[in-house]
Amino acid sequence: MSFDEYKKRIKALKRLDELETIEHELFGRKNGALTLCFNNLHRLSPDKKRQEASTLNRVKHDLTTLLEEQRERIQGKSDGSLSATPFDVTLSAPAHDCGHLHLIPSFMTQVEEVFGRMGFDTAYGNEIETEEMNFDLLNFPPDHPARDAQDIFYVKIPNLKKDASKPVLRAHTSPVQLHYMQTHKPPFRMICPGRVYRRDADATHSPVFHQFEGLMIGENISLADMKGVMIAAVKELLSPEITFRFRTGYFPFVEPGLEMDIQWQGDVKDSREGTWLEIAGCGMVHPNVLKNAKIDPKKWQGFAFGFGVERLLMIRHRIPDIRLFYEGDLRFLKQF
Ligand code: DAH
Repeated sequence: MSFDEYKKRIKALKRLDELETIEHELFGRKNGALTLCFNNLHRLSPDKKRQEASTLNRVKHDLTTLLEEQRERIQGKSDGSLSATPFDVTLSAPAHDCGHLHLIPSFMTQVEEVFGRMGFDTAYGNEIETEEMNFDLLNFPPDHPARDAQDIFYVKIPNLKKDASKPVLRAHTSPVQLHYMQTHKPPFRMICPGRVYRRDADATHSPVFHQFEGLMIGENISLADMKGVMIAAVKELLSPEITFRFRTGYFPFVEPGLEMDIQWQGDVKDSREGTWLEIAGCGMVHPNVLKNAKIDPKKWQGFAFGFGVERLLMIRHRIPDIRLFYEGDLRFLKQF
C-alpha cells in the first residue's frame, strides 16, 4: 500500500482502535511499512540514502501529524470536549431524580410542628437505656412480663459494674419522660419522637419502629386537657374527619390509663372498614413516676401519651404491611 493510500485511510478514520491499527501497520518495530523503509536505507549509496531519508522523514512527519489530528478529533468527540463537539444550548437539561425525606422522618417533622404550635418542646433520648429507666422508674413491677428476654433486647456492654442496671435497647420512648423531668422544672410540655426496639416481627410489628411520646406537667392539668391535645393533634396529623374513642387501658406509669382508638376508614372499602385500631396509650402520670423524678405529686400533676408512628402512617396512607417502610423499594418510596 502506498503512503498516499495510508493518508486516505487515516483521513477516513472513525474510531481510536482503527487509528491504533494503522499506526502499528506503519510504525510497528518489526514490520511497520515505514520502519522497513528506514531499515532498508543502509543498502543505498550515500547520495541516494540522503535523498531517500529526507523523503521518508517528510512522509513520516506528514503521517504522524495526520494521525495526531485524527486522534484529537476522535477523542474530542467521545469526551464531549467543547472544542471538538459543538452543542445545542437551547436543548432542555436532561431530567434527573430529586431525592426527598423518607415518610417517617418527614412525618416526625410534622409532629414536631403540630405540637410545637401547642407549646410543646421537642426532646430526644437515648436508644440504649437501662432496665431501671425503661422499667423500674416507670413503675413496672419487678416481675412484669415486658421485661422478659422474649420481649426486649438486652445489650452486652463489657466491663459493666456488677450491680449496674442492665443495659437494654429502649422498648418505648417513655424513659425520655424521666430524663426530661429530671432535668427540667415544671410546668412544662414536651414531645419526644424516636426509634424503639422490641423482639417482634410480622406484617404489623417490626423489631425497630418509631413512637412519639408526649408529657405535660403543671398545677391543674386534667384528663380533659389530655384529650383536647390528643384529639387536636390527631385531627391535624390524620384528618379532621376521623372517628376516635378512648378506652381504659393499663400502663404501670399512668393512673388512670387509657388507650386511644381510631376507626379505619377511607375511599377504598375493605374488610377493615369500620374496625377500631389502637393508636396510642395515655393517661395521668402515676404519682410514683413523679416521685422517681423528684417532682412533688401533691403540687404537680399531668398527662403522658405515646403514639405508634408507623400505625398512624399505615392508617393515613392505607399501607398494608409495616415492612414496606424499611425495604427501600422505590415503587413505595416514590409515592410519598
Ligand atoms: N410506652 C407505651 C408503649 O410503648 C405507650 C404509652 C402508654 C406511653 C401510656 C405513655 C402512656 O406515655 O401514658 O406501649
